[in-house]
Amino acid sequence: MSDHVTDDNIDQTIDFDELQSQSDETTFNEKSNESNHTEDEDIEEQQHFFDIINTFRYYKSFNMKKVQKRIDFVNTMTTAHQNLLENYSKHLTEVQTSILHNYEIIKVIIGDAAKIFRNHLFLKDNKKSSLTLKSEKDLDISRIDSILNQIVREWCHEGINERESCFVPILNTIEKYFPLVENRNQIRILVPGAGLGRLPFEIAKRGYSCQGNEFSLMMLFVANFILNKIDSIDVFTFYPWVSHFSNNLQSNHQILPIKFPDVNPATISKDVDFSMVAGSFIEIFNQQKNQFDCVVTCFFLDTAQNIVAYIETIWNILKTGGIWINFGPLLYHYADMTDCSIEPSYEIVREIIESFNFQFLEEKTNQICYYTRNPNSMVSYQYHSIFFVCRK
Ligand SMILES: C[S@@+](CC[C@H](N)C(=O)[O-])C[C@H]1O[C@@H](n2cnc3c(N)ncnc32)[C@H](O)[C@@H]1O
Repeated sequence: MSDHVTDDNIDQTIDFDELQSQSDETTFNEKSNESNHTEDEDIEEQQHFFDIINTFRYYKSFNMKKVQKRIDFVNTMTTAHQNLLENYSKHLTEVQTSILHNYEIIKVIIGDAAKIFRNHLFLKDNKKSSLTLKSEKDLDISRIDSILNQIVREWCHEGINERESCFVPILNTIEKYFPLVENRNQIRILVPGAGLGRLPFEIAKRGYSCQGNEFSLMMLFVANFILNKIDSIDVFTFYPWVSHFSNNLQSNHQILPIKFPDVNPATISKDVDFSMVAGSFIEIFNQQKNQFDCVVTCFFLDTAQNIVAYIETIWNILKTGGIWINFGPLLYHYADMTDCSIEPSYEIVREIIESFNFQFLEEKTNQICYYTRNPNSMVSYQYHSIFFVCRK
């Protein structure tokens, strides 16, 4: 099958210019100052937005082709083999149905994407003509699978163990250092690398003012959808493991239906300032000083190309006496990429943190946890994370 862009594999038409008021919703701000943008930067940003929307739109055709390839292969086999594979063939049909179902949810998610940022209009009419509609092979469609798995981690009953091991120690630590009951909303907490927003949601739910920061548009689209468009529990059923063709003990494990969200996202008190800010942590915060009472980094430090710049920014944005809570491994994201990066050990990272005059209040290594683990798979990746609390 060719990779050409046709009406057949692009299913969804979106009115990108429809921008509605979101006054009762969690604010999603795009912090970059549009007036400072050059024309080229503007187009580059809009091209990125367009690429991400199209990555979502290709989900169906990309994944259906993967199944069809297997069906076609079975069809080339002898009748005897085909008969032996009867249950497998039936299963492949069910995989296709699950993919189509996931795609229905994806269409709803991207249907809202154009309205995500209150202060920024993407894909203006006069710019659309300069945008390139890339073909499937030029976009990383498999990233959507990680987003589906991330929904399980953050917003499904099935993610409870991961949240218990990563988020709960952080939430307990926040309550320990900021125990006050009255005026909790005066405490300002920042969560960089907020993913789909569950951790900032939980912090805001406990009455603290909380801002999540995230630079992945894919994450932001889904976070916006969950936080702003859903107001009860178990509204959607999806099939997060449908692309996992290997390591299944039972066929059903690949097409396990999972519901989300496990909590009602529309339950944050109006007195609490809860928002998400889009963009790179360093770009947004490196000029700010003494803004937050607490910074929470969960599986975030290792997303740095230069971890020193992250530590320096955290130091600057914390108020004097402010608390930094960190949980996660050092699986440096840029380690195997062409972009430059450094990967200091925890021993060195710790020295750097102390050089900024942070005082270590609590510190534990070997905190066993998982990240977007498929509980039924024959393979999984276990982290031995670091947990620490520092005071500025
Ligand atoms: C490993 S995920 C952790 C998500 C969430 N904290 C959790 O524990 O489930 C790291 C997140 O940081 C985001 N991220 C990476 N680099 C970033 C940056 N420079 N600024 C803001 N967010 C970033 C990624 O897009 C991703 O959502």
